[in-house]
Amino acid sequence: MSKRTKVVVWGGSAVATPEMVDVMSREAVGAGSIELVLVGRTKEKLEIVGTLCRRIAERGPADLDVSFTTDMESAVAGADYVLNQIRVGGMEGRAFDESFPRRFGIPGEETVGPGGFSYSLRTLPVVLDYCRLMEMLAPQAVLLNLTNPSSIVQYAVRRYTNVRVIGTCDSPVSLMEAVAQLLDLPLAELSFSYVGMHHFGWITRVLWEGQDVMPHVLERVEEISKLEIDAKILQAIGAIPSPYLKYYYHPDRILAKTEGRATRAEQLVGVQAAMLEQYEGWTSADKPDTLVRRGAVWYRKIVVPVLLAMIKDLRKPFIVSVDNGSAIPWLPEDTIVELPAIVGADGARPLAAAEVPADVKAMVQMNAAYERLAVEAIVERSYGKALRALLANWMVHTAGQAKGLLDSIWPEGKEDEAGKQGQVVGAVSKTEDIVFPDIVYGDGILREVPLLEERFVVVTMEEPWALAKEMLPAKPAAVAFVRSMDWDAVEGLERDISPDVERVVGIGGGSALDMAKYVAWRRNLPCDLIPSISSVDTFATKSIAVREGGHVRYIGFIVPKNVYVDYALIRQAPPRLNRAGVGDIISAHTALWDWALAHERRGERYDEDIAARFRDLLTALDENAPEIQRVSAEGVHFIMDAYAQINLICRRFGSSRPQEGADHTFAYNAEYITERPYIHGELVSLGTLVIAALQDNEWEWVEGILERCGVLYQPRDLGISEGGFVSILCSLEGYSRKYGRRYTVLDDRPITESFIEGMVGRLVF
Ligand code: G6P
Repeated sequence: MSKRTKVVVWGGSAVATPEMVDVMSREAVGAGSIELVLVGRTKEKLEIVGTLCRRIAERGPADLDVSFTTDMESAVAGADYVLNQIRVGGMEGRAFDESFPRRFGIPGEETVGPGGFSYSLRTLPVVLDYCRLMEMLAPQAVLLNLTNPSSIVQYAVRRYTNVRVIGTCDSPVSLMEAVAQLLDLPLAELSFSYVGMHHFGWITRVLWEGQDVMPHVLERVEEISKLEIDAKILQAIGAIPSPYLKYYYHPDRILAKTEGRATRAEQLVGVQAAMLEQYEGWTSADKPDTLVRRGAVWYRKIVVPVLLAMIKDLRKPFIVSVDNGSAIPWLPEDTIVELPAIVGADGARPLAAAEVPADVKAMVQMNAAYERLAVEAIVERSYGKALRALLANWMVHTAGQAKGLLDSIWPEGKEDEAGKQGQVVGAVSKTEDIVFPDIVYGDGILREVPLLEERFVVVTMEEPWALAKEMLPAKPAAVAFVRSMDWDAVEGLERDISPDVERVVGIGGGSALDMAKYVAWRRNLPCDLIPSISSVDTFATKSIAVREGGHVRYIGFIVPKNVYVDYALIRQAPPRLNRAGVGDIISAHTALWDWALAHERRGERYDEDIAARFRDLLTALDENAPEIQRVSAEGVHFIMDAYAQINLICRRFGSSRPQEGADHTFAYNAEYITERPYIHGELVSLGTLVIAALQDNEWEWVEGILERCGVLYQPRDLGISEGGFVSILCSLEGYSRKYGRRYTVLDDRPITESFIEGMVGRLVF
């Protein structure tokens, strides 16, 4: 094998990581050369753990190189595999998850029940942020997920990103080993039927030499001590569940046992401290004994075998968590199921699942509904869905429990306050509620904005603030001026704002509104936005765009409460800034083409209804061109309303695929090559025009709309020289590959010299 495989570990400074390296250093023989990059946040801890890992790797026979870094981007770039084992909130967070449900008469655990829900609340935003980085820097990589609650995390990744992900957990293997031990037979001689979800799986049949030995197992099932579930129940059902089912069958016993006791997390704090202490300066060739005692069996039993099965393309069966597809016909296709699957270089393909008894089926279905609702609730910040999620959880029995639990962990606190955060809009989909701001349009409406009674901070920039200051009905408690959206500057500005403000009001363009969202998100405050130009869609998006190392990074999830679109304010901005709003609408013209291509060539998910809605928007754009050119109230309204619609549609779909294609890649590459900022919509307009030409896709129609709207899109107006333009085009395909942009025309048609010549001839420099 000639290629070097890059494996990245998120949460690489975990004290158990040396165990993974130990297993790999022995087992990865024959897997070629492997570069293992550990990413951690705390430098000191990472160095201690990383140094030990290096020593262990050097000792083993495999061709394994270990490095460690705190720089996520450089680590992720070009990765082939990423192992996610981060623990958001650390052991302190885990201790909370394992204890707070007890107040409501429910055992605490970090995966199942309300504890798992609370852990998801902390974890999903972080994992989704990291996955966005993966989409950009390592789009082909496979994510192996270990972070709990494992299948909730995995469902969020599948639903909201394009990352390929497989979930690994040792508990199915451990359960099968226990059965083999009970029968006193080697595991390899037994064959199991296994079906379910993470920590919710069942062994339904055990065969030995072609014979069903399940009756023997059930007869003596009490001997599997870790199950802690009444044998009578299992004998009656005829199946053996994951030991985690004890939380559902016997919560009372677990509560009684844990009453007044330290949580697992509290116990582990001491263990981890001892481990780190021993690791420091460890020089022996043996593994530290504290590591052995930690018992991180998951690396040996499942994580490393699955990883190596992919690297070596073994096509062997493992029980892992994967997309259901049609494997379990009685569960939705997108449920994350735990099943035997064939693992090879192209991922994990689940095998058709065995039948299960009706009551088990119903339990798993309810668990699937719980996980889906939990993810949606957290991503959409929907209190209502969170309540439904908890009510659909097997460990929660009354509505009072659900509400009490939620009120003690939901970021907005109580329901009433949460209700203030955003309005639930059901316009796009009848089945899924999406939280969306209230958008108020009007001339001179800022005077009536209800701000009198609260201490609010205005987050803005000098120019829009000079215009808007006199129009507001009340004076803010503080004004914060945004100078840069670089990550450090963003955090610094948030820290400088007085702690006692009760509301955040963003006034300005993209950066000011994003910064306002950031402050509100960090502090969990209600947020109102007042756009001062009609060429930014920040008011309608749920994430926050910051810059890191020159690249955009999307973080957070926040929906503003109110958006006030005051024509009187917007019309004072230079018309150019307002007309540029066309860019992010017209880009759908080329993005839809790219999407259809990706569907055809790559089998990417395609939705004709969504494509049709975008085509309607483009027709309406054509009709509204004169109003946009005049920057009339109608023109401004059209653009802002189009943004709102686009964002709703894309959120329902799960990505911006229908609106962003090679047009945006062109714009990002132009910024990258020429190293200067642009008016986003103008650059995207030029990008759309160029890409329409490359696609052979009604270039003249695009040009006509841009002209009639009065958008500046010619390289001359944007300050792009002929040489600069040629460099942008020459490097475009490479940029798209390097930064892992989606599949587009750039992957399908070369940019030839004659195409560049043709473009140069048609545009004005
Ligand atoms: C098993 C469970 C995991 C759990 C792990 C470690 O593998 O399936 O969900 O994270 O054990 O548990 P511990 O309590 O030792 O951290």
